[in-house]
Amino acid sequence: MTTDNITGDSKAIVSNQDAIHDKLTEVVTKHLQHEFKKPYQQHTEQAFTEVNKQVQAFLLANQNAEIILDACCGVGQSTRILAQQNPNALVIGVDKSANRLERNIEDLMCSEGSGKVENFILVRADLNDFYRLVKAANWPVTKHYILYPNPWPKSKHLQRRWHGSAVFPQMIEIGQQLILRSNWRLYLEEFQAALLLTGRQSQLTAVVAKKNIQALTPFEAKYQASGQQCWQLISHL
Ligand SMILES: C[S@@+](CC[C@H](N)C(=O)[O-])C[C@H]1O[C@@H](n2cnc3c(N)ncnc32)[C@H](O)[C@@H]1O
Repeated sequence: MTTDNITGDSKAIVSNQDAIHDKLTEVVTKHLQHEFKKPYQQHTEQAFTEVNKQVQAFLLANQNAEIILDACCGVGQSTRILAQQNPNALVIGVDKSANRLERNIEDLMCSEGSGKVENFILVRADLNDFYRLVKAANWPVTKHYILYPNPWPKSKHLQRRWHGSAVFPQMIEIGQQLILRSNWRLYLEEFQAALLLTGRQSQLTAVVAKKNIQALTPFEAKYQASGQQCWQLISHL
């Protein structure tokens, strides 16, 4: 990330919650006990059918093929960086915002990141449906990233957070490794507690910003430029 296009004016999260939500166990348990059966939206189903063709062709053509999922990829900066760092993998970036996906991000990529990287696909889709389709298709996802998801910091919005959503049981089944990042530590603590309800351990650590190493995403760059600590949760599923 070039430093001249990052503003350091990002405000720290303000929430009326200062501890893990007291309804977390109830909400997660309800979702674990009841299958999420809402019909798929047509646009996501179509998008999945298209990308699934490419994934299946990639799997057929490559022995030990690796799929990396970059959920909530925004403008796809992390998708491109991950593709570059994992040349043998196919990296799928998914976001529901066409505006973000279509943004030209030449200005965001540092010079080493702007070379020809072709092993990635950006998909416009709603992950509430896309996750279920990936799970049903049994993609061999090695790493599943969710970088800086919308935090929904108001207590009443617990069910809009990924760990409070109905798709939580399916989303955590995707990937040998699940990697989340957030500037709101409590979000990750809640996700960690939700994972524990399924018997899964995870590790929560600080993201260490390194000089001369590009931030993985524009949100990460913005938080770091504002002096905010970013956090990472990793679970080996
Ligand atoms: C805070 S932004 C972070 C973007 C990017 N990961 C970054 O760090 O720069 C959260 C992203 O999640 C996407 N998003 C939120 N809910 C989604 C959903 N249900 N399906 C797909 N994308 C979603 C938004 O469109 C937005 O781009």
